[in-house]
Parts: sequence; C-alpha cells; structure tokens
Amino acid sequence: MKGRVYVKTYGCQMNVRDTSAILGVLKQEGYEMTDNIDEADVIIINTCAVREKAEQKVLSELGRLKMFKQRCANVVVGIGGCMAQEAGRTIAERFPHVDVVFGTHSLHRLPELIEKASSGEKAVDVSTDYTPGERFSAKRLRVSSGLKEYVTVMEGCDNFCAYCIVPHVRGREVSRPPEDILEEVKELVSRGTKEITLVGQNVNSYGLKEGWGVDFPHLLDMVAATPGLQRLRFITSHPRDFTEQLARRFVTLDVLCEHLHLPVQAGSTRILKAMNRGYTRDEYLRKVEMVKKLPVTVALSTDIIVGFPGETEKDFQDTLSLLEEVQFDFIFSFAYSPRPGTPAARLHNQVPLKVRLERLAQVQALQKEITLKKNRDLENRVVDVLVEGTSRRDRHELTGRTRCNRVVNFPGPSEVMGREVKVHITQAHANSLRGEIVETAQEGRNHD
Ligand code: 5AD
Ligand code: SF4
Repeated sequence: MKGRVYVKTYGCQMNVRDTSAILGVLKQEGYEMTDNIDEADVIIINTCAVREKAEQKVLSELGRLKMFKQRCANVVVGIGGCMAQEAGRTIAERFPHVDVVFGTHSLHRLPELIEKASSGEKAVDVSTDYTPGERFSAKRLRVSSGLKEYVTVMEGCDNFCAYCIVPHVRGREVSRPPEDILEEVKELVSRGTKEITLVGQNVNSYGLKEGWGVDFPHLLDMVAATPGLQRLRFITSHPRDFTEQLARRFVTLDVLCEHLHLPVQAGSTRILKAMNRGYTRDEYLRKVEMVKKLPVTVALSTDIIVGFPGETEKDFQDTLSLLEEVQFDFIFSFAYSPRPGTPAARLHNQVPLKVRLERLAQVQALQKEITLKKNRDLENRVVDVLVEGTSRRDRHELTGRTRCNRVVNFPGPSEVMGREVKVHITQAHANSLRGEIVETAQEGRNHD
C-alpha cells in the first residue's frame, strides 16, 4: 500500500463524480481510501468555484489544514477541482502548505503529482490541453460501485451565461464517445448498480459538435437498453436546447425516471437577456407546457438566481410569478454571487447583498408552500421507492427515493435494501414523505 487518501468534496454532481474518479485513479496506483482524516497520508480537497460561499468554505478548510500539516509534516495536501483550475497558482503561493494543485482536466496525472510532492517539490498542473481521450480515461475509474452512480457524458460549457464561472474553469464542451459511456454503464449494472444518472453541464448538446450521429435522445435510448438497469436520470438540461424529441423519451423509455431539472434562473425576460440565457420567459413556459402535456406526469425542478445585477423589484416579482405559474416540485435557489472574470461581475448596477438575501428568503418561503402542496398531493398514493439505506434520523427506518426524486422514509425490514418496493404515502413533509410498505404490487408505472 502506498498510503491512505482522504478526499473532501464541495459542489455539484460533476465534482462528486470526479471525486470517485480521483479515488479510482489512486486506488489503481496502490493507495487505500480512508474516511478518517487523522490517518491520511494524502488529503485532497475537491473544490467548487460557482459561488463565493463555496470558495470561502474551501479557504477556511485550507486554513485548518495548515495546522494539521504543522503536526504531520509528511502528509501531502492536494487541492483540485474548479477553484484549483481557476486560481491554482495563486492558491499555491498563498498557502505554502498546499503541495499539489490539479485542475479539472488533469485528474489522470494525480499519482505523478503526488510522487513529485512527496519528494519535496510543489506540483501544479492546471493545463487544459489534454485530449478528450486522456481526460475521460480517468473518468471511467471509480473506487467502488454503489446502488446509484453518476456517469459523465460530457464536460464543459459553451453557453457563457453572464454570471457563471463554469465555462471559464471547465472549458469548452467536449462529449464522451457513446461506446465508452455504454461500456461504463454495463459494467456498473453488472456490479449491482440500479440507478444511473448521466451528468454533464449541458447534456442537450451532447455529441452535436462531434458528428458521431448520436445526439442526447439517442444516447438515452442506447443507455436505457442496458439489460438490468432499473432507473435512468440525467442532469442538467439547458432550456434553450430542450426539445420535444427529448421530452418524448419520458414516455417511450420505461427506465427513464419522470423528473426533469430545467434551470430557469429568472422569471423576467429582461434579466434572462442580461444573463445571456438565450430564451425568454414565454419560451421557457412553452417548454414547461410541452412537458406537462405529456401522457406521463414528470416532476419539474429548477435553479433560481435572485439579485442578478440590475434586477428591479418588478423583475423579481416576475420570478415569483413564474414559480406560482409553473408549480415546480422543488427548486434550488441562490443569491447572485459576483464571480471575478465573468461579465456580470463587472456591471455597475449590483443589487445590495441585503436585498439579495431578502429576495432569496421570499423565494424560499413561496417555494416551501408549493413543495409542501405538491408533496401532499402524494398522500394516500402508492409509489415505487428504491431503498437506499437507513434514515439519518432513525436507524430503524428505511429511506429511499421515488422515481420523481422525492425522499421517502418508512419502517421496513433490512432485506429490502437495494430493491425497489411499493410504498403507500401516509404523510407529506416539506422535504420528505413518510409511508408504509405495501404487499400488493400495483399495475403499471406509478408517476409519483
Ligand atoms: N451566483 C449565484 N448562483 C450561481 N449559479 C451559477 N453561477 C452563479 C452565481 N454567480 C447557480 C445557477 C446554476 C447553479 C448550478 O448555480 O443557478 O444553475
Ligand atoms: Fe454556467 Fe450557463 Fe453553462 Fe450552466 S449553461 S454551466 S449556468 S454558463
């Protein structure tokens, strides 16, 4: 064994997947994993740069690691992910106790970088000129396969929304060859994975540049045909590129779960234009209508940013009215965070932090009511739940998710762990549902 590795992850699903790849790369080289930082020989922080808050958390973590390093001088401290890609060299200078800095494109070089650092040299690699083959070679690896796994289908983003750092750190869109993806999915399913989520910053533009003749709806068809796969999901879709052809997959593909995450960001056409989102409020609402008209019920979720520069009270009211109109099942909402280097950060009409936070609280209060109402609609219905483990609050309770991605807690025998069971919903809460396992199976699919 070369040493024990501890990884702490911040940020989105892409980062969660990358962490698994980091561990996979190091395992292949003879490292072992540990959940206990005190016994680690290598400590890696996989960072996020999408909002200032995430960056601050990483900076204070790095501060704590300085003391750790004073006690255990031989430990190698590495920082990877989006913050490292964006400001790696500055971080290496500002935090002399950081030994390794690696960007989002260079996971596969981590073993070499750690070796270099172990011999006392600082090792920095934030280059972006790796071929897709090299980049994705590491992405195939993972430390173990769980019940639910993420599979990367594409990386990067060409959209350049005015507030967003992602295109600056993850680079241009690059898709992964379909046969590579299918092989990974097959392998996971053969090792017991029941649910696969295909991840990419903008999955709708999968394969469009590459000319393989496989676009995202076709990729879904191919993945869905994997024998033994029970559930398939995907994130994230850009509303501008969300097509009827893709929406139809919710009807035609049985394994595709009825949940669509379609980030709108704002309800005012004026702000959407300033954000460079490429669609108007009405165009977004038409896409939602298209989904609502499907013969299956698809749960909808979204991302909202409040307080983008220049957002007036009227613009903000448009966001609230859009939430009322669409009735999303759940949302992720954020106060706008200026990201250095993005066009929005240079605008002069920034909204004061106090106003941003007040608007955030209003959005969250409104959505809380809507989510609760939506959850209550499920009371007394029977839904399919993939049982993931024991509940965090009570270890005698089981927990899992519906096809529409809602958390359900219920008493039950541990033998059903890892299986899909029918659960009768008895009580709705704001963030979860309670239920009881039912013996008799219902006919057909449950569009919970
Ligand atoms: N400030 C606030 N939220 C942001 N997001 C992306 N960039 C910013 C920013 N600068 C949000 C968007 C995106 C989600 C992943 O993070 O809503 O969809
Ligand atoms: Fe960022 Fe916009 Fe790309 Fe999403 S689509 S990653 S918000 S630039």
